[in-house]
Amino acid sequence: MKIAVFSSKSYDEEYFINANTSKGFVFDFIEAPLDPRSAKWTKDYDAVCAFVNDDLGRDTLTELRSCGIRLVALRCAGFNHVDLHAARELGIKIMRVPAYSPNAVAEHAVALILTLARKTHKSYNRVRDANFSLERLVGFNISGKRVGVIGTGKIGQVFAGIMQGFGCIVIAYDPYPSEQMEKQGITYTTLKKLFQLSDIISLHCPLVPETHRIINEESLSWMKKGAMLINTSRGKLIHTPDVIHSLREKHLGYLGIDVYSEEEKLFFRDLSERIIDDEAIMQLISFPNVLITSHQGFLTHEALIEIAETTLKNISDFRDQKSSENEVTPLLIN
Ligand code: NAI
Repeated sequence: MKIAVFSSKSYDEEYFINANTSKGFVFDFIEAPLDPRSAKWTKDYDAVCAFVNDDLGRDTLTELRSCGIRLVALRCAGFNHVDLHAARELGIKIMRVPAYSPNAVAEHAVALILTLARKTHKSYNRVRDANFSLERLVGFNISGKRVGVIGTGKIGQVFAGIMQGFGCIVIAYDPYPSEQMEKQGITYTTLKKLFQLSDIISLHCPLVPETHRIINEESLSWMKKGAMLINTSRGKLIHTPDVIHSLREKHLGYLGIDVYSEEEKLFFRDLSERIIDDEAIMQLISFPNVLITSHQGFLTHEALIEIAETTLKNISDFRDQKSSENEVTPLLIN
């Protein structure tokens, strides 16, 4: 089988080639993102492999189908960017990698918290400049703080356990509470109470209509003054102008994000020589209490091995007409 890998980076190529040694698939690694225009290039392929910011709306899927594509193998867990109803109508199977490494993303969320709390990003830059002053580097202890986890699935559960290890009191909100979490001493509460009680809030829920802009003017007003908000899940969980307003008003104390509402036109690219046409991200970058990483929560050695191996297994299962629990259907969003 010949597979077009869109939005491909050097690490995708390295890990896919390693995973493919005994499989014999033929991969073409294409740097361009998948969209209705690039979908037209897939005539010679049997399947496409896509990533989080690829456009998998109806137009792209229709182009793919007219080129004969019947499988889109997502090399990510989230599928909010796929028009699943259109895929089903067109007879295109969508497969994903549901759990490549919850630890990778949970640990990245913790990295954002520790960096913001202890300002290590500032110390690093200062010391490189031979500035050994400690002025304006006062941080705060994580131990004893109340941490609110929104979404206690695979990543949220790992994150909650790590924060308990730091000596935090962990509370959670999820429409489907986990017994295991409750046994671990984590208390479920309402969304409003979670916002009101938490010193640190971390988002680990999927982007669905109910969670779209879950962080907005109202929910921000419920938060404690000076609270920290962490988002490693999906950018559109946050209404960015409201968050900027809250930071300006010195209500929201800290923001750590690995995802951004408009990341499709920015992230995964080196734009260092360009003028950035996105006022909101430029404002956020300018705030001293904001830390932004460009969707790298998944980017660990262990996760990349798992992503490549599961994606290849998904493609094999499709080729062998085997049913797979990694298939994504509209039922998963209903
Ligand atoms: P999961 O499916 O295991 O857990 C999601 C949890 O959210 C479930 O417990 C579900 O009940 C809960 N949920 C559903 N609707 C909710 C709502 N309205 N409010 C609160 N909770 C709700 O997913 P997993 O693997 O833990 O991933 C979570 C998210 O992390 C993904 O949806 C994806 O957006 C993001 N992610 C980010 C990555 C990164 O590199 N930054 C990499 C992988 C995933």
